[in-house]
Amino acid sequence: MAESMKGWKRTHRCAELSVQNVGEEVIVMGWVQKQRNKGGIIFVDLRDRSGILQIIFEENDCGLEAFAKAEKMRSEFVIAVAGGVERRSGAVNENLATGEIEIRARQVRILSESETPPFPIEADSRTKEEIRLKYRYLDLRRPDLQEKMILRSKIASEMRAFMAKEGFLEIETPILCKSTPEGARDYLVPSRVHPGSFYALPQSPQLYKQLLMCSGYDRYFQIARCFRDEDLRADRQPEFTQADMELSFVDVDDVIEVNERLIQHVCKEAIGLTVQLPLPRMTWQEAMDRYGSDKPDTRFGMELVNVSEAVAGCGFGVFTSVLENQGSVRGLNVKGQAAMPRKKIDALVDFAKGYGAKGLAYLSIQEDGTYKSSFAKFMTEEELERLVRAMDGEKGDLLLFAADRTNIVYSVLGALRVELGRQLGLIDESKFNFLWVVEFPLLEWSEEENRFMAMHHPFTMPMEEDWQYIDSDPGRVRAKAYDIVLNGVELGGGSVRIHQNDIQEKMFEVLGFTREKAWEQFGFLLSAFQYGVPPHAGLAYGLDRFVMLLVHADSIREVIAFPKVKDASCLMTEAPGSVDAKQLEELRIAVVPEKEGEEA
Ligand code: AMO
Ligand code: AMP
Repeated sequence: MAESMKGWKRTHRCAELSVQNVGEEVIVMGWVQKQRNKGGIIFVDLRDRSGILQIIFEENDCGLEAFAKAEKMRSEFVIAVAGGVERRSGAVNENLATGEIEIRARQVRILSESETPPFPIEADSRTKEEIRLKYRYLDLRRPDLQEKMILRSKIASEMRAFMAKEGFLEIETPILCKSTPEGARDYLVPSRVHPGSFYALPQSPQLYKQLLMCSGYDRYFQIARCFRDEDLRADRQPEFTQADMELSFVDVDDVIEVNERLIQHVCKEAIGLTVQLPLPRMTWQEAMDRYGSDKPDTRFGMELVNVSEAVAGCGFGVFTSVLENQGSVRGLNVKGQAAMPRKKIDALVDFAKGYGAKGLAYLSIQEDGTYKSSFAKFMTEEELERLVRAMDGEKGDLLLFAADRTNIVYSVLGALRVELGRQLGLIDESKFNFLWVVEFPLLEWSEEENRFMAMHHPFTMPMEEDWQYIDSDPGRVRAKAYDIVLNGVELGGGSVRIHQNDIQEKMFEVLGFTREKAWEQFGFLLSAFQYGVPPHAGLAYGLDRFVMLLVHADSIREVIAFPKVKDASCLMTEAPGSVDAKQLEELRIAVVPEKEGEEA
């Protein structure tokens, strides 16, 4: 029978005790990590979120009844122990913060018993993630996960503290709203009162925070839950958290300045990391040219090289035909990998094809100076030499080339670079390389929709000097948009917003919105803008990603208490689930049964 804790009050967490407390009488409470019965003495490792503490039961001190209770303790029983802090009688345990002390139990209560857990509660569990997620409440007891959750809490509270000090107001925005324009699919919530009508869960607080600027709140901050129905990856969840902000009367540099200090503060307070300011900045164009990515991992080199000029007019048709069609030929110099086996190169070709490449041409420079190559036979000696020189190729190097439309070349070589960096161990995992990527293109051509789409969102301000090209060459217009990148991951992004009606209307026109449609979707914002709107700008971090990178977690799931898996379900609660027919009836919703062979 479980006992109550009536009359007892916990005095310390386990790891709050040390040799300084020797001689004190204390009460500790927690979970039994392990019980070892050595005959006349029983040792119990007691665990709470602070750590582990050794308890020693001897019949002479605690009496027969307490000793009998200690005998029946099993892993994960919840107990309360009253006793005295002593120096360890046995060997000191260097691995424990409390390794020099133990508690000599005088009284004990068993507050709750436990079944044998489905996996051991310990750090670095080898248990499969599916099992851990099914029993997430047990998984969350493991010290490494607890450490991450505690650090997450610390990061969030340090952000709040910094933002408050800088004059930001924390204001909550609705969860039941109208669709927001972040470009993912919405999660919808049916309205019972308005049958056939739906709320959308926010993809971000974007429009509300802009309205708060119109309302004069000046500096807004929120740790906001966002929802996006998109395909999941290791750094994406259907619901996630943004550290979101908006500022009035500012331009790009002001947003960057306050955010650099925020990053510096959080890194120092949370993980003791010193971040040197200012952080490096790179234009989007430079990031694409050098790294083939708008979120470059700058912890290693192996940058892209544009060899279009070097191969112009050469004998290899794949290269020349691409150049004739306004594409480009670019390469990577994989240093010292000339001996890479054919099988491995073939795997790289397949990898490249996964990113849309039609092929991947290679040339390796052997130690005797000869070439092994998939295309050398199409080129003259001079043409090859020109190409190798353009790549700074030396004996022992492996050169890889992609030829295609330039955006495909970027994405193929950008991905290949990161993959090779990982495979070849080129990445220094101890580095924290922050980088601002600025001057993103305003628009992005969508093959699917056959029109320009906003690269960030339709309220992003174009750069003044480029606005003149909006009709003649829309793709050339850059935006006052910026991303903050850490170690090759997009940590956050934002922009200066349009606050002038004429620019906004032109933007809608370019994006293919009619005036009616724009007003239907964003009428409340456009209307607000008619009553005096300050110039404003903002940014949002993916808080989960921030924590993931600071704690070196492999996946975003490791820093979210109750995450979802790839198909957006929760293995613990089994959400999403079916609902009562009555509930559906109330909402006037009919579910269309799945057709045979149809994918869910
Ligand atoms: P954006 O769409 O770039 O900008 O989102 C900001 C940051 O949120 C994180 N993020 C995600 N994290 C986990 N799972 C997801 N599915 C996910 N999607 C995005 C990323 C990203 O950088 N309203 C604008 C911000 C602004 O302009 O102020 C916005 O939402 O780290
Ligand atoms: P092929 O003559 O088609 O066999 O191609 C010769 C070599 O060029 C092979 O190694 C192909 O993988 C490579 N290749 C084909 N298309 C491309 C391309 N668009 N970019 C780079 N290499 C390519």
